[in-house]
Amino acid sequence: MLNKRLFTLLGLLLILSLALVACGGTSTTNSGNTETATEVPADTGDTADTGDTGGDMAEGITLRLFAGNVGDELALSKAAAARFMEANPGITIEVVDTPDFVEDRLGTYLQLFEAKSNQGDVFQIDVIWPGDLAEHLIDLNQYGAADVAGEHFDAIIENNTVGGQLLGIPWFTDAGLLYYRTDLLEKYGYDGPPTTWTELEEMAAVIQEGERGEGNADFWGYVWQGNAYEGLTCDALEWIASNDGGTIVTPDKVITINNPNAIEIVDQASGWVDTISPPGVTGFGEEDARGVWQAGNAAFMRNWPYAYSLGNADDSVVKDKFDVSPLPAGKGSPAATLGGWQLAVSKYSDHPAEAAAFALFLASYEEQKVRAIEASYNPTIKALYEDADVLAATPFFGSLYDVFINAVARPSTATAPQYSDTSALFFRAVHSVLTGDSDATTAFAELELDLQDLLGFEARQQP
Ligand code: GLC
Repeated sequence: MLNKRLFTLLGLLLILSLALVACGGTSTTNSGNTETATEVPADTGDTADTGDTGGDMAEGITLRLFAGNVGDELALSKAAAARFMEANPGITIEVVDTPDFVEDRLGTYLQLFEAKSNQGDVFQIDVIWPGDLAEHLIDLNQYGAADVAGEHFDAIIENNTVGGQLLGIPWFTDAGLLYYRTDLLEKYGYDGPPTTWTELEEMAAVIQEGERGEGNADFWGYVWQGNAYEGLTCDALEWIASNDGGTIVTPDKVITINNPNAIEIVDQASGWVDTISPPGVTGFGEEDARGVWQAGNAAFMRNWPYAYSLGNADDSVVKDKFDVSPLPAGKGSPAATLGGWQLAVSKYSDHPAEAAAFALFLASYEEQKVRAIEASYNPTIKALYEDADVLAATPFFGSLYDVFINAVARPSTATAPQYSDTSALFFRAVHSVLTGDSDATTAFAELELDLQDLLGFEARQQP
């Protein structure tokens, strides 16, 4: 309720501030900063690979890209926008920075969409959103995407296709990984990273005790995403799927979350809080976990690939002291949640052709290559996994290729257009177990009823 009011307020502020920018004012709100990407000199003469779509584009127009700002994302988007403007001098791109947490970002977008506002053109959308946002997005196949869709992973194109329309061109894909400190594993006599959650618990406890004994009181065994938000849905789905507990709702619309394997592993995970994980982990997002990890204060971290490049930056305490592996498993096989972001064009844009051209430019081979090399964002274009420059910069794109292509999808297609509500019920139930307000048996029995009310699907107590 409170959140809804907050979003309404933030959304109105955002629309107002964008209108001000359009009139030549300046703007800053809590939910977004609008900035024009760095200006670059006009036409250099060579526009072959830089998104110039020839003479078809309107002149003197401004497009707004609503983009993420986790890690170095915003700087990457601005640099890409500058390259596009260089090839298309008639177009100005403004990059609008959006909130980190998925729910907050969705709230910002929905305010614009529900007002049918023309103040946003290109939107960075989550892999879980095409179904929920379908009514507000254009079919990119009508604007050239049909020619390039085949270069991308088929499963993501399929995910982004709703009612035969391609609503987002894939930009980068994500999968949950286990980050581990190679130096500490060696110091404590371990041959390699843990392959089960129980092994992770044991190793994390030993290393934590040892490091604290040597005077680092801030050291923790394992950091991850435990706040009540979409990131917890991702982490908890990994625990549950790896314990043969299913995916909350099956692709053919059966609610399966209330099963013994799911209950068992979530109860196990609740035991990590304030033992091998900080008590504050129940308020952690991706960047909180990375903060502890990159300061050298954790043996293991669950995160997405973007943390690899930042962890190896010159100012990082853990530079060259870590590696990544598949996440541990319960009684089944390891599971990584499928994440990732697409570029979509709003139906309410005044310039859909130019916006689509910009989206396709951002998602092109050359642009995905820059992001892969500079910031370890996983490409969605298959051929980039065989590109020598990419593999040299991020060797795990090759060694963990199977993790990326076998990642487990959240039930966003089966539950659309109510995935966000489904996920919110799920992460709140898991969170109540992590904080000790409930146990998984009780929380998942209630969740099953709530999901039946919301979705009207059948339920069964096995995955
Ligand atoms: C990452 C993933 C996205 C997921 C989010 C959760 O950004 O790419 O799919 O929803 O994390 O925090």
